[in-house]
Amino acid sequence: MPSAIVTLNITEHQHHLLIQKPVSGISLQGHLRVPGDKSISHRALMLGAIAQGETQIQGLLLGEDPRSTASCFRAMGAQISELNSEQVIVQGIGLGQLQEPMNVLNAGNSGTTLRLMLGLLASHPGRFFTVTGDSSLRSRPMSRVVKPLQEMGAKIWGRQGTTRAPLAIQGQSLKPIHYQSPIASAQVKSCILLAGLMTSGQTTVTEPALSRDHSERMLKAFGAELSVDPQTHSVTVTGPAQLQGQTVIVPGDISSAAFWLVAGAIVPGSELVIENVGVNPTRTGVLEALEMMGADIELENQRVVAGEPVADLRVRHGRLQGCKIAGDLIPRLIDEIPILAVAAVFAQGTTVIRDAAELRVKESDRIAVMASQLNRMGARVTELPDGLEITGGTPLVGTDVDSHTDHRIAMSLAIAALNATGTTTIHGAEAAAISYPDFTTTLQQLCR
Ligand code: S3P
Repeated sequence: MPSAIVTLNITEHQHHLLIQKPVSGISLQGHLRVPGDKSISHRALMLGAIAQGETQIQGLLLGEDPRSTASCFRAMGAQISELNSEQVIVQGIGLGQLQEPMNVLNAGNSGTTLRLMLGLLASHPGRFFTVTGDSSLRSRPMSRVVKPLQEMGAKIWGRQGTTRAPLAIQGQSLKPIHYQSPIASAQVKSCILLAGLMTSGQTTVTEPALSRDHSERMLKAFGAELSVDPQTHSVTVTGPAQLQGQTVIVPGDISSAAFWLVAGAIVPGSELVIENVGVNPTRTGVLEALEMMGADIELENQRVVAGEPVADLRVRHGRLQGCKIAGDLIPRLIDEIPILAVAAVFAQGTTVIRDAAELRVKESDRIAVMASQLNRMGARVTELPDGLEITGGTPLVGTDVDSHTDHRIAMSLAIAALNATGTTTIHGAEAAAISYPDFTTTLQQLCR
């Protein structure tokens, strides 16, 4: 019987999570699994849809973002069975066979859906597509993918000088390019590689630092001719490709596990084992940052499952110290910075996060929102143009905070609330369903 009161109050116009820690305190104990990796789930649905034959997906994330991907590809003719985490069957329609949809494709809140899909749509000659998203996605920059696609010959129109969705795409036969991306972004890299699948010749993307490589791994597994140069962070795909449906086993999402890693590290008396977590080296920056902070984390039972490294992660409470998080580490932990900011609030000394201006164009401006919301709780957080400076050690006091409809902010603030006195009310907590629909239930189960 949990002694913490963790209740989700939902009324028609208001969604909020109320976290009230009893005076006797709480700790987090137990073994758990986190939902499937979001990045891999999107890619499995997309590659399954454009491959020949059947793709089976085990462990798919049932969050709202992959649901957006599934509905877009269903609207273009792919047969995708009802989504469940046991097994999803995708009947691929074959490369170049996406049908012109009857309506606007809606990517919801999902930047990955919209940006990756653009590469495929732009390379479907003779077909016309319109794409949009929710108000957050419609305010996010699209020029990062539109510009290289236009260099390949794509025809795209959109709001604000074709920098914002809604966008209209007239599919073309594209020409291969070598794109030097100014940012380390897996969405940009993957968009161009997907456009390269249908394009005759070699399409190469070079990025300034290595971003997550799930597209490269999965494209190879589906049979694409793909070469990687790790020295220059370059990937080349040779088109036209042949893709064959596969079985994809999706590991647990390290970005979701990060909430429990930090919760276990900061809440006194805690010990958690998070099983079956993807530990692809392009995603494990959060483990390195927490190690620099002195967190007690062990990787157990390390293995490779369907081409992706996986481990069980054991975390125990302990003292944390501030550290510097910057440079090439940033793309390897970009989605974990909100929760690392929470860890920094409970660490001794100062934590400085730099080179992370990308955070300003995520589902919300994560630099501004994390600084303002943690400061409302009594933390000492200063916004930097490209990061945060956090002086740890000030006790937090529960108050009203707001997710700004950003799933990772909602969950980060919930973990911060576990170590705050009094009651914290997180407005917009339902945003967690984007990547972690069962977050609140799991939180309740782990509290002792
Ligand atoms: C993702 C890439 C990252 C990440 C996002 C998922 C992906 O975005 O923040 O949550 O699946 O390719 P950027 O490519 O914009 O850095």
